Amino acid sequence: MSSKIRLGILGGGGDSLIGVLHRVAASMHDQFEITGGVFNPNWDENIAFVEKLGLPTNRVYKDFDTLIDEELKLSEAERMQVISILTPNFLHFPMAKKLLENGFNVICEKPMTTTYAEAKLLESICEQANTIFAVTYTYTGYPMVRQMRKMIAEGAIGKVQKIDVQYYQGWINPIIHDVKKRASTWRLNPEKSGISCCMADIGTHAFDMIEYVTGLKVASVLADLNYLYSDNKMDVDGTVLIRCAKNVKGVIRASQIATGEENDLTIKVYGEKAALKWGQENPTYLYLLEEGKPINVLKPGHAYNSKLSLDGTKLPPGHPEGIFDSMGNIYKGVAKAIKGKPYDKGEFPTITDGVRGMDFIEKTIESHQNGNTWVTINN
Ligand SMILES: NC(=O)c1ccc[n+]([C@@H]2O[C@H](COP(=O)([O-])OP(=O)(O)OC[C@H]3O[C@@H](n4cnc5c(N)ncnc54)[C@H](O)[C@@H]3O)[C@@H](O)[C@H]2O)c1
Repeated sequence: MSSKIRLGILGGGGDSLIGVLHRVAASMHDQFEITGGVFNPNWDENIAFVEKLGLPTNRVYKDFDTLIDEELKLSEAERMQVISILTPNFLHFPMAKKLLENGFNVICEKPMTTTYAEAKLLESICEQANTIFAVTYTYTGYPMVRQMRKMIAEGAIGKVQKIDVQYYQGWINPIIHDVKKRASTWRLNPEKSGISCCMADIGTHAFDMIEYVTGLKVASVLADLNYLYSDNKMDVDGTVLIRCAKNVKGVIRASQIATGEENDLTIKVYGEKAALKWGQENPTYLYLLEEGKPINVLKPGHAYNSKLSLDGTKLPPGHPEGIFDSMGNIYKGVAKAIKGKPYDKGEFPTITDGVRGMDFIEKTIESHQNGNTWVTINN
């Protein structure tokens, strides 16, 4: 019998954005085999897609409840071991909850749920279930982001004194100015997306990135959000001032109406001694800035990188790896956890990060609605 981990997938069908990233990531380190799932709520599209992929069809189910019922009839040696949830946001919570209650490990897309209360409930169920739960804040898998985390932890830039994260996209610009389009996109529909669009979709990545690379916890936020039209209930842009523990201050600037921008996530962390800068669109370059010295450019795969960074690099220096590899590293870490092997805490974000992400989203909305006041982030 194969030693690969049996992976089920929910969502991520042929019509989806994120499905291919997870399928490639899961296969990248030869740790998972896609056993089945529900890729699309429409049966014809569901089965046609799996046939097109050339995967076995015997464990492709008509819906999520049928998947649970049928998988539980199988022996543990045959049953799916982990399920990836790649559906629109509103389905994450009911799916994750039932999966945990039935003993499955879970890999869940962000935002983890649509409310903080759901996230907390999921966290307590997960503790009882004692299963692995990863949240795919994809960018944490990049080797140079991992390197940034280790360098800051080891004091390479000294005490952190300023954090600046920008996450600019422009894809909502052509949608928001068209009444019909803005009424039909699921991300601008609170029933499918939750209470936020921009902050939930990309602000939460920026928030997680800050906590991942600096090791600091964001303690409070003050948000000023932008909705553009009165019939649009969802933020499409915003600026969030942050205060971390130890009086470290910073800013998250997130936008989906930054006309012409693609996927520009850039994080800059300034310390007493030096600074580090990294950008998602050129992910193999990590810049080290020191006063009076030329800028240092660190790249993946070199011996000067940390073990965590090197573990996320497959090829010798000079062979650029990107977003697929970054997600692949998260799956690689999850595989270690499922197989009971040792792993670094930086290898994949967990349910705790998902809970904090939901708290961030709710508190930014609360801050904005309160007239831009400081709001405390829990725990
Ligand atoms: N980690 C990242 O960087 C990143 C990037 C993009 C999207 N995402 C997240 O991934 C999730 C999906 O986003 P997307 O852009 O791929 O969405 P999408 O709308 O492109 O695709 C959603 C998929 O889910 C399927 N689906 C819908 N209802 C279903 C059901 N009841 N059962 C099974 N399948 C169902 C759809 O058929 C489709 O294949 C969202 O939560 C989003 O926030 C994360």
